[in-house]
Amino acid sequence: MKTLVIVAHPNMKNSRFNKRLRDELTKTDVTIHDLYETYPDENIDIAREQELLLTHDRIVLQFPFYWYSSPSLLKKWQDHVLAFGWAYGPGGTKLHGKELMLAITTGGPEAAYQAGGYNQYAMSELLKPFQATSNLIGARYLPAFIIHGVNQLTEQQVNEHAARYVEHIAKDFGPRR
Ligand SMILES: Cc1cc2nc3c(=O)[nH]c(=O)nc-3n(C[C@H](O)[C@H](O)[C@H](O)COP(=O)(O)O)c2cc1C
Repeated sequence: MKTLVIVAHPNMKNSRFNKRLRDELTKTDVTIHDLYETYPDENIDIAREQELLLTHDRIVLQFPFYWYSSPSLLKKWQDHVLAFGWAYGPGGTKLHGKELMLAITTGGPEAAYQAGGYNQYAMSELLKPFQATSNLIGARYLPAFIIHGVNQLTEQQVNEHAARYVEHIAKDFGPRR
């Protein structure tokens, strides 16, 4: 199984966590594709992106949680790369059978993401647009890897999460139900 990790962080040089997670991936055989690094002018090469998707089985979208969603270039990537007649609509079957996984860091602590908590909603509720997108393109939506409250973590905890990340994205989630 070939895994593609699409990393979307607009300011990677000031990132502590996404940079650490990305660095951990360099020890593995996954393909790391950094969107902001590849497209500093945000001019996405759609054909290149589609080719990358076609040549991998598991697609991981890694990003810091920004306004309950992804940084904007990843949204632009979805808008242009997941095209009508390619990823959905008539003949849009190119991603059928792929696996899609989210890998997200949040500033807010886990307890904030529940009814009655600071943000009122669970991550699985806030991430529904990604799940719906996955459904529409015919991919299998896998359990997300989420690290909460990243700014409170000790160096040792960050290292533990990084190791857990590598395990999670390589995990066999069993047969699809
Ligand atoms: C523009 C912006 C929006 C953010 N929105 C959220 C948010 O909606 N929920 C949250 O928990 N954290 C939010 N944060 C905090 C980031 O998720 C957090 O700083 C990031 O995950 C840390 O990862 P990094 O070290 O790789 O930058 C936001 C940060 C920025 C700069």
